[in-house]
Amino acid sequence: MRTWEQAWQQALYDERGFYRRPEGPAGHFATSAQGSAAGLLAEALLELAAREGLRRVIDIGCGRGELLTALADLTAERDPDLGLLGVDVVPRPDHLDPRIDWLASPGGADLPDLGGPRDALVLAHEWLDVVPCPIARADEDGTLREVLLDEAGAEHPGAPLTGSDAQWADRWWPGPYAPGEAVEVGRARDQALAGLTSTIGSGLLLVIDYGHLTDTRPPEGTLVGYRDGAVCPPAPDGSCDLTAHVAMDSLRLEVCTQREALRELGIDGTRPPIEQARTDPAGYLAALSRASHAGALTGPGLGDFLWGRRRITADTTR
Ligand SMILES: C[S@@+](CC[C@H](N)C(=O)[O-])C[C@H]1O[C@@H](n2cnc3c(N)ncnc32)[C@H](O)[C@@H]1O
Repeated sequence: MRTWEQAWQQALYDERGFYRRPEGPAGHFATSAQGSAAGLLAEALLELAAREGLRRVIDIGCGRGELLTALADLTAERDPDLGLLGVDVVPRPDHLDPRIDWLASPGGADLPDLGGPRDALVLAHEWLDVVPCPIARADEDGTLREVLLDEAGAEHPGAPLTGSDAQWADRWWPGPYAPGEAVEVGRARDQALAGLTSTIGSGLLLVIDYGHLTDTRPPEGTLVGYRDGAVCPPAPDGSCDLTAHVAMDSLRLEVCTQREALRELGIDGTRPPIEQARTDPAGYLAALSRASHAGALTGPGLGDFLWGRRRITADTTR
């Protein structure tokens, strides 16, 4: 028997793991960081970096460098010295802009040492939701037991949660639990983020993910698979992504919605005035496309994504 945390780690990150496949995440699902709205997200991140006086962007779990490519395009003329570093579990893709540096990573909670970069915007866009965590389910008495998987992938109740996982559940996802209720134990994500924080010299840590807060925890749990653009049962066999929403408040970041964050950075879905279509058709079309991407990033769904931020200074408690 394996725990979900072990099975999940193997399925995504061992040598034949899902995330090592040549097609990369974009071959299976769309995110704001690699779709047609990536340019607008990149624009918002540049604004944030400029406001914070940051001189490099480090993208943890960067897929195949899609968002970094958008950042390289936007800054090619106006800020060619902005540092760009991608971190993911595969070697550097050949086609990338030469300005983009790359570090290969083990995957999941494990990261390479970033070497204490200073003045860095360290972004984790949909990284923590694919960091494996223990899954527990309440038994008939409402006691949380870690879920175990047999060889065939069938679930079985294990021992009651103890130690740091039990403490995490008490603090961040408290009962009483109805029989069958699931808890995705975010202790593993908290530790992964602490590990990342410990390798940053100074700057801003920015976690963007789908998540929940203490008063909105989903009783059924959120673990699902993604394959070929569709949601599928979470099979821990390397054939699909495995993802569960992030308990954002236990990360101890300053949290707001993506909608709020982007509006504050000047991105909203205001459409251009219709008269512009006559006087400046090309400008009108460009503004319309921008408004539609802004609408997608701030609307229901993507707009509900959570942004968690933490400033890191030389004396930040790690
Ligand atoms: C859901 S995808 C998101 C990709 C991209 N950030 C985006 O939003 O389109 C998660 C990515 O995180 C990567 N990843 C997972 N654990 C990692 C780790 N420890 N270090 C680097 N990358 C990791 C995966 O390989 C995958 O590319």
